[in-house]
Amino acid sequence: MALNEIARACALLSSGEVIGLPTETVYGLGADACHGEAVAKIYALKNRPTFNPLILHVSSLPMAQNFGVFNEVALKLAKYFWQENKKPLTLVTHKVKNSGLSELATAGLETMAIRLPNHPVALELIENYGSPLVAPSANPSNRLSTTTRDQVLSYFSDLYVLEGGKCQVGLESTIIDVTGNKPVILRHGGTPLEEISQFLGWNLAVDAGEKIKAPGQLQTHYAPKTPLYMNAVNIQEGGCLLGFGNTPGETLNLSPEGDLIEAASNLFESLHKLDGMGFKSIHVVPIPEKGLGRAINDRLKRAAWGN
Ligand code: TXA
Ligand code: MG
Repeated sequence: MALNEIARACALLSSGEVIGLPTETVYGLGADACHGEAVAKIYALKNRPTFNPLILHVSSLPMAQNFGVFNEVALKLAKYFWQENKKPLTLVTHKVKNSGLSELATAGLETMAIRLPNHPVALELIENYGSPLVAPSANPSNRLSTTTRDQVLSYFSDLYVLEGGKCQVGLESTIIDVTGNKPVILRHGGTPLEEISQFLGWNLAVDAGEKIKAPGQLQTHYAPKTPLYMNAVNIQEGGCLLGFGNTPGETLNLSPEGDLIEAASNLFESLHKLDGMGFKSIHVVPIPEKGLGRAINDRLKRAAWGN
C-alpha cells in the first residue's frame, strides 16, 4: 500500500472522518474508536440502531489490552487464534476503565468486542494511526456485507476507501463472549466452531439468545433486495440458482469443488451479483451444516428471513 494513501486515511481519521478499509473477513467502515463524533458518524452512515455496538480493531494484543480486560481464557484464545494462527475471532471482554474509548462505540454496554484483523492494509493503517478503530461491516444496516472495494463504493459513493483486494475469508469474524465462566459463541463466522472447541478441549456453547447479545444477529441482517430461498430443489420461473458442488442448471456456483472455505469467500459477492441481475428470486442449494457451512447457513437464513 502506498504510504500516501495510509497517510491520507490517517489524516481523515484524526479529523473525525469515516473511511472504508479492507479486512480479511469483509470490508469495514473505520473511525477513531476514541472520537465520539466520528463513531456517531458511522451509526448515521449505516443507518444503524445505536443499541448495536461496534467491534474495536487493534494491530496488536498489547493495544487490545489497553481497552479490554483479558482474563486467562481470553489471553489463551488471543495468543492462539490472533497471534499464532491469524484467524478472524472477535472476543467480548470487560472494559478497561477510563481507556478513552467512546461510550457510543459500545452502545453503553459494560462489555466490548475486540479483534485483530489479519489484513496487511488494515494492520498498517492501525499501526500508523497508533490507536484502535471501530469498524462495522461496510454496508447499510440490514443489507449485504461487502468483500470488494467496488461493492463498498456502490453503497457509499463519497467514501474514501482503501484498496485491499477481495477479502480472503468473505464472512465476518466469529464472536465469542469470554466474560463468563465458560466462553460462548455469539455469532458464527470465519473461524469454525469446531476449531475453537478443539483448541479449548470442550464443546463450546452457542448462545441461542433470549435477549439479543450480538444485535447484529437481528434476523433481517444481510438481506439482498431479491427474495432468497434456501435448500432449493428446483428453481421457480424467473428465478436463479446459486449452486455448491455439482449443481446442474446453476446460475453461479459458490464452489464447484464443494469447498466450504471457497464458498465462504464467494458468498456475499455472489449474492451481490445475483441481486443485480434482475431475477425474481434467488434459490440456494443446501450447504452442509459443518465448519464454515454453519456461518454460511446463518447468513443465508438471515437473507431468506420472511420468505
Ligand atoms: O469480521 C468482522 O467482524 C467485521 C469486519 C469489518 O471486521 N466487522 C463486523 O462488524 O462484522 P459489525 O458491526 O457488522 O458486527 C459487530 C457485531 C454485532 O453483531 C454486534 O452486536 C456485536 O458485534 N457486538 C459488539 N459489541 C458487543 C458486545 N459487547 N457484546 C456482544 N456483541 C457485541
Ligand atoms: Mg455487519
